[in-house]
Amino acid sequence: MSGAELEIVRVPALEPTSAATIAGVLAQMEPWTRLGYSAEALSRGLQIQHPDLLRYLLLRAGETLGLATIRYPWLRGAYVELFAVLPAAQNQGVGKAILGHLEASYRERTGNLWLLVSAFNARALRFYLDRGFVPIGTLPDLVIAGEDEILMRKRL
Ligand SMILES: CC(C)(COP(=O)(O)OP(=O)(O)OC[C@H]1O[C@@H](n2cnc3c(N)ncnc32)[C@H](O)[C@@H]1OP(=O)(O)O)[C@@H](O)C(=O)NCCC(=O)NCCS
Repeated sequence: MSGAELEIVRVPALEPTSAATIAGVLAQMEPWTRLGYSAEALSRGLQIQHPDLLRYLLLRAGETLGLATIRYPWLRGAYVELFAVLPAAQNQGVGKAILGHLEASYRERTGNLWLLVSAFNARALRFYLDRGFVPIGTLPDLVIAGEDEILMRKRL
């Protein structure tokens, strides 16, 4: 994706209004619907301030199209705690742009990018495999009973 109006900004946490707006959308999307995350819980999570947490937002004309939460340091790398492209912006290269930015940012500092993806989330699993992430192991019942999470690693 290209275009002068696109920008990626890095913030420690989201402020309450934009956290609530984005969380309201995420709560209606997979994988969060199936995993049982409420809008309130997602909103709280986006507002948590911690020295190891950063949020990356991809904006077009001030509107958030996608976002990622990164925990660093984590297991000799950086851990992608949340990664989402909002429905209206999917399949336009936004995910690719955010991930490319993260890889470039953390390659300077560390050796691995880690994430968990739900086994039922076939679209995201394919997206990460295509971008060079390797499945490391399956964690059964991690978030909810009966669902596997797959730990993935990309060497930077
Ligand atoms: C998975 C997700 C992050 C991908 O982001 P995106 O912005 O839609 O993806 P992009 O437009 O950057 O597409 C990247 C690639 O996927 C391909 N693609 C697009 N639609 C696809 C589809 N329906 N199925 C498979 N591949 C598809 C694109 O062609 C592109 O491939 P390329 O490398 O050959 O160009 C996004 O769909 C999303 O947020 N989904 C819901 C939340 C989620 O699952 N988050 C991850 C939780 S771990």
